[in-house]
Amino acid sequence: MFPVPMFHDLIGKGMRGMRDRIREIELHVLEELEKRLSPEDLQELKVRTMGKKGTLTALYKEMRDLRAEFKREAGQMINDVRETLEKAFADKEEVLSDLMLKKRLQEETLDISLPGLPVRRGYRHPLTLMFDEIEEIFLAMGFSVAEGPEIETDHYNFEALNLPKDHPARDMQDSFFISEEIVLRTQTSPVQVRTMQQMCPALPVKIIAPGKVFRYDDDATHSPMFHQVEGLLVDKGVRMSDLKGVLLLFVRQMFGEDREIRLRPSFFPFTEPSAEVDVSCMICGGKGCRLCKGTGWIEILGAGMVHPRVLEIGGYDPKEVTGFAFGMGVERVAMLKYGIEDIRLIYDNDVRFLQQF
Ligand code: PHE
Repeated sequence: MFPVPMFHDLIGKGMRGMRDRIREIELHVLEELEKRLSPEDLQELKVRTMGKKGTLTALYKEMRDLRAEFKREAGQMINDVRETLEKAFADKEEVLSDLMLKKRLQEETLDISLPGLPVRRGYRHPLTLMFDEIEEIFLAMGFSVAEGPEIETDHYNFEALNLPKDHPARDMQDSFFISEEIVLRTQTSPVQVRTMQQMCPALPVKIIAPGKVFRYDDDATHSPMFHQVEGLLVDKGVRMSDLKGVLLLFVRQMFGEDREIRLRPSFFPFTEPSAEVDVSCMICGGKGCRLCKGTGWIEILGAGMVHPRVLEIGGYDPKEVTGFAFGMGVERVAMLKYGIEDIRLIYDNDVRFLQQF
């Protein structure tokens, strides 16, 4: 017999060779893949294997030389390997891009341990401190806080307080009139009448009224806008000694336990009798110094027994009830307490001043 099988062998060998080469490429590429550590290197391997001139792509061409019966098998094998490799490349690509991301994140970490710019702490304004302290003292004595408008009617600011239109005592209060009937309140006293009218016939009326007031006065101890705290107690049997007791208690808590007060006769149209209240000097204790101008006493507020006319306008019967009232300048108390020499410092908003409290 002629050695016909030679043909078979040849072709068979071709197929066997083909199988081996496919496996070889698969193993080789999978091995190489492990060593590639950058996306660029990986891409290079991919092109070298599956690109137009890639080793695996070349096998498709060689396949054409195979016998028809093997073509199918070889084609199937190459396709399978191609699929395997494509998957392997995709997996590796993912691993690498994860790695790159992690690396980038590490490199780009912000060092937030650097100290930031310091945020400067604010301070409570001396007037706020003053209001808080005054309110605390009177709330502890059972007073509550009342309020009234800063733009007031002539009626409440003056007439209801027993100051008719042409009363000379209006001169003491350098008023900003907005119109004939409307005025920036020159004192917190109008809150006395407003509160009585609101509360009548309830007793006692026991309030303080803190707030802004306005007078056209402007120097080292006067400002056209300043603050007062009004006090009012109306009840059956309120006496001037009650006023004195309450004020003494207030002054001792505000300026120290060894302070004394003295009441000097004075005049306000809405109190009778009226008094200016002095406190013994907190610097020299009464001996006389620059602050008290050698007298040992410093004036801090006006006060008196509520005038019967005012009680009446408030709705109360002056034969049934009596009351006392007082009004103090908050800036004045602050200046005395903190040793502030010029009232304008309080409004300048200079941090160097404000941070001292
Ligand atoms: N309102 C007066 C003033 O501003 C002070 C005062 C209040 C006097 C209450 C007596 C009673 O000067």
